[in-house]
Amino acid sequence: MIRRLFRLACVLALAGAAMLGTAGPEAGAPACRDATNFFSPPDDTLYLQGRYVFQRNCIPCHGEFGDGKGPMGVTVVPRPRNFTTGIFKYRTTPSGALPTDDDLLRTVTQGIPGTAMPFFSEILTERDRRAVVQYVKTFSRKWRAPENFTAPLKIPEPPDWFADSAQLATRAEQGRKIFTVACVACHGTNGDGKGEAAIALEDAWGRKIVPADLRRPWIHSGRELTDLYKVLVTGLNGTPMASFAETTTEQQRWELVAFIERLRHEMTAK
Ligand code: HEC
Ligand code: HEC
Repeated sequence: MIRRLFRLACVLALAGAAMLGTAGPEAGAPACRDATNFFSPPDDTLYLQGRYVFQRNCIPCHGEFGDGKGPMGVTVVPRPRNFTTGIFKYRTTPSGALPTDDDLLRTVTQGIPGTAMPFFSEILTERDRRAVVQYVKTFSRKWRAPENFTAPLKIPEPPDWFADSAQLATRAEQGRKIFTVACVACHGTNGDGKGEAAIALEDAWGRKIVPADLRRPWIHSGRELTDLYKVLVTGLNGTPMASFAETTTEQQRWELVAFIERLRHEMTAK
């Protein structure tokens, strides 16, 4: 319903602008197109099913009210997400934006490696997972405001040089240089997460947070090259891990990914 109203508002605004001769469709269209494609408020038709799935599977950690204060939740680090703040770390959308339904579905399906968040691919049907995603979205009013939605970013495929070990070594060395400038303060020279700034960091929920040890295999976002790249363009909302979309080029981001891969291999080789 909200979606339909919003679409109507866009059409009317465009018609109005055209009549007044102020802004042409080109000026107004992209914003409307983005919002109608990606504005995705909770789907109320799935509410009851989603609530049932949530009550049976998620309350022990995320709590009855979605505030992350379930009986098991208070014992694990990192703590389960508090859904009432509407802040989500693992997304394909730009820094500050809400995740897409598919981002949430991916989290519920695959879980978050290295945390207590389990994967539900075997336990719940896809329909149950989709329903519970819609229910999660009822805990924060942010999901009712179109301005909190942005189109997902297109994550490119890794460049061919990842397959050529000589070139990969050169690029990883470039990546190390960028890492020294942009990342070492938090992640430490060897990526162990013990940089000088690391001790003073807090997340949006007021808890201490430590930079990831990049030598370990359990990167929360996933293990693929594209998962690492994604973190660099989206950042992790609610944490000091910012987006580097504006401050690095695509090539520099892949060089950073190459360096992180090298760190991991050095660790495994030991
Ligand atoms: C055993 C505890 C546990 C259970 C059960 C659990 N979660 Fe989580 N969940 C977590 C933890 C811990 C995190 C935070 C991980 C982090 O910060 O990296 C989390 C994070 C999340 C996130 C946030 C991802 C993001 O991008 O920030 C979503 C969405 C989520 N859980 C959904 C669910 C749903 C839906 C269920 C039930 C089907 C569920 N969880 C059951 C522990 C749990
Ligand atoms: C201000 C401190 C800070 C800086 C600077 C910083 N990070 Fe992070 N980074 C963090 C924190 C904190 C986390 C852990 C977030 C969490 O556990 O939710 C993190 C997590 C990560 C992760 C793991 C993400 C995941 O899904 O588990 C990667 C990869 C990463 N950072 C790469 C980088 C790279 C590359 C740079 C430099 C371009 C960088 N970071 C700069 C603080 C920082």
